[in-house]
Amino acid sequence: MTLQGKRILLCVTGGIAVYKACALTSKLTQQGADVKVMMSKSAKQFVTPLTFQALSRNEVYDDTFDEKNPKVIAHIDLADWADLVLVAPATANMIGKLANGIADDMISTTLLATTAPVWIAPAMNVHMYDHPAVKKNIATLASYGYRFVEPSEGYLACGYIGKGRLEEPEKIVALMEEFFAKKESQPLKGKKVLITAGPTRERLDPVRFFTNRSTGKMGYALAEVASSFGADVTLVSGPTSLVPPANVEFVSVESAEEMYQAVIERLSDSDIVIKSAAVADYRPKQTYLQKMKKQDGDLMIELERTKDILKEIGKRKTTQYVVGFAAETNDVEHYARQKLEKKNADMIVANNVITAGAGFGTDTNIVTFVKKDGSTKTLPLMSKHEVAEKLFEEIISDMKEDEPCK
Ligand code: CTP
Repeated sequence: MTLQGKRILLCVTGGIAVYKACALTSKLTQQGADVKVMMSKSAKQFVTPLTFQALSRNEVYDDTFDEKNPKVIAHIDLADWADLVLVAPATANMIGKLANGIADDMISTTLLATTAPVWIAPAMNVHMYDHPAVKKNIATLASYGYRFVEPSEGYLACGYIGKGRLEEPEKIVALMEEFFAKKESQPLKGKKVLITAGPTRERLDPVRFFTNRSTGKMGYALAEVASSFGADVTLVSGPTSLVPPANVEFVSVESAEEMYQAVIERLSDSDIVIKSAAVADYRPKQTYLQKMKKQDGDLMIELERTKDILKEIGKRKTTQYVVGFAAETNDVEHYARQKLEKKNADMIVANNVITAGAGFGTDTNIVTFVKKDGSTKTLPLMSKHEVAEKLFEEIISDMKEDEPCK
């Protein structure tokens, strides 16, 4: 009974894979989960609500306006009730609605209303899954923190062979078990994690500054994951358009100098420091209080070096596990290892920013962990959220190895 007492809201949308959602309901229930099923209008064309009612031993929901209990509003009540929401099978239509904030039926309304973690298990024709609009919607949802159960490859009901088959119920159940186990084990409980994110801005005058293309997505994903792993998180961020995750101490900075002060102040109190910010290496030597007026001819602006925050952390660190990031365009591992040594870090997360799917502004990344013990590990293309999870798993395992034997 690995899911004993877990409240799972299973949203079933219309596709032939609805038949697998029946087996999924049964398996989740057998593992002790309290499963409530919500069906879309099209899902009911494939299987009747009665099947899900019998398998879940709960009432099935399918109509926003069918309010059975006057004391509550059903879709809000269910959104709040769930420990986890699972959309399986998820059609291209439902994925599109959610990615665009559309709430025109009970499932899409509930999905917008819930604050519980949402897992989406797409199932559709191989070409539909490959369509740029579907891919874009999936990427948007991944960037919002939605998790996906990737469809498997095989024979599809439409006659095609390819990717689009709803993952087998056993595998989905195993993913849910792993998710709850990780959440409950809180592997970073009691640890203080300091993360920097975003670009810095180096002012020239009241209307101009130097900056770079960092959006902060990687650092914010790291903060969210660290917090979900139970850590006490401080996120020091340069200017971004992102909303800081809940339950995180947020320190907003602008320049490299401000970031330096914020980080050094908190260093001795931290167990893990991750420098994912893209800190400017140079700033204008002279800044102006009034707007610079243009003159005839060219303009030379003299730049001076900023402080290298990571290098300073490397000098001062005692027991902290320190991770730096390296954005490279060539010889990625070679430069990453040089940075690791020069800055006395425990790990450098390197990425080739000119590879498709990696680097600035994307929701995905392809990274290589270059570590102090000489090892390297390259991960395949994955969402920044997944990269963050893998990175913390790596750090946790390294820190365990370093713990003195009791
Ligand atoms: N970093 C820092 N302070 C700086 C500059 C960079 O802490 N003033 C950190 C970044 O947060 C990142 C790592 O150092 O973790 C990146 O290393 P860096 O040598 O600055 O990378 P690049 O600027 O790309 O270096 P280069 O131009 O030499 O490739």
